[in-house]
Amino acid sequence: MKRFPPEALQAETDRLVALLSHVGWGRDECEFYAPLTLRIREAARDKNAVILAHSYQTPDILFGVADFRGDSLGLSIEARDTTADVIVFCGVRFMAETAKVLSPDKTVLLPAPDAGCSLSESITGEDVRRLRALHPDAAFVCYVNTSAEVKAECDVVCTSANALAVVEGVPQDEVVFLPDRFMAENLKALSRKRIHHYDGRCIVHETFSPETARAWKDLYPDAKMLVHTESPPEVVALADLAGGTGDMIRYVRESPPEWKRFMLVTECGLSDRLQVEFPDREFIGTCSLCAHMKRVGLRQVLQVLEDPRPEQVVTVPEDVRVRALRSIERMLELTRKGADTSRPHANLGDRTGRGE
Ligand code: 13P
Ligand code: SF4
Repeated sequence: MKRFPPEALQAETDRLVALLSHVGWGRDECEFYAPLTLRIREAARDKNAVILAHSYQTPDILFGVADFRGDSLGLSIEARDTTADVIVFCGVRFMAETAKVLSPDKTVLLPAPDAGCSLSESITGEDVRRLRALHPDAAFVCYVNTSAEVKAECDVVCTSANALAVVEGVPQDEVVFLPDRFMAENLKALSRKRIHHYDGRCIVHETFSPETARAWKDLYPDAKMLVHTESPPEVVALADLAGGTGDMIRYVRESPPEWKRFMLVTECGLSDRLQVEFPDREFIGTCSLCAHMKRVGLRQVLQVLEDPRPEQVVTVPEDVRVRALRSIERMLELTRKGADTSRPHANLGDRTGRGE
């Protein structure tokens, strides 16, 4: 690996220590990773690449090399609006496909090509066609955690931040919401529309129980509890805020300074991200890891930039891409118009679609 001048290595180590010490990283670890983060950023500059990292990625990726941190759709929109030739998506496959749908002329690289998602994999385009025959008058709304093929078969996409605005915004009174069962059930509690659910589940969020959430509340009565809406309704019912990762970040950012403690009922990467960005607050996480998200490491990011393997280059057939894009654009139209759909304790009504 290329050798960097000692002063550049020192400066990079200091930068990493200043950030990552908030989540327990020592100087030795930062010194070890500094040549790698420098090399990755240099390779990204050489290739005119932008590096995106979902908030569930590890802190070395989020703060060592990412140009943008955020949720999947927000990241893809950021990347589309750059002049980069290459997008490196530190996340899972459906996210990189969404980036490709929005940026067909850019090369989209997925460092961990086998990083999937239990929600995305729970449903295929064929399943949607079968359901359409059963519910011919319904609007088909799919969560962004789906393949491009599924997005192409639906009428409109939504995110965890704008799901309610989208469901309320479609003209039909009957909605088939795909594929997240718990998100659909959470929406049913807020909408008068007839919502049919599917049985997709997030392997991380389905594990949270109301008993555990109550036990945490008893342990930390002053903490605000932020629950992802991929969680079961009985857990969402206990939340101070229910929404997506972008909603959670905004909630913390906009909270009064005397609110010192937050309990995050979501994948544990987000609590590390927030601890770095808000060091004067305390984030109690759940230690629930998404094994798919954690497949990405710094070495793969460097490898994919320097010499991508064919399976790391994301492709979407053009006819599928065009129809998936139409479903995403429909979401952007609906959320721009969006009725005021926000509810106390259930921040499902973000209108921008960007999450943060
Ligand atoms: P958001 O970041 O869109 O809230 O999604 C969470 C998630 O589970 C991504 O896979
Ligand atoms: Fe999919 Fe859940 Fe992992 Fe997100 S956290 S990528 S929804 S399995």
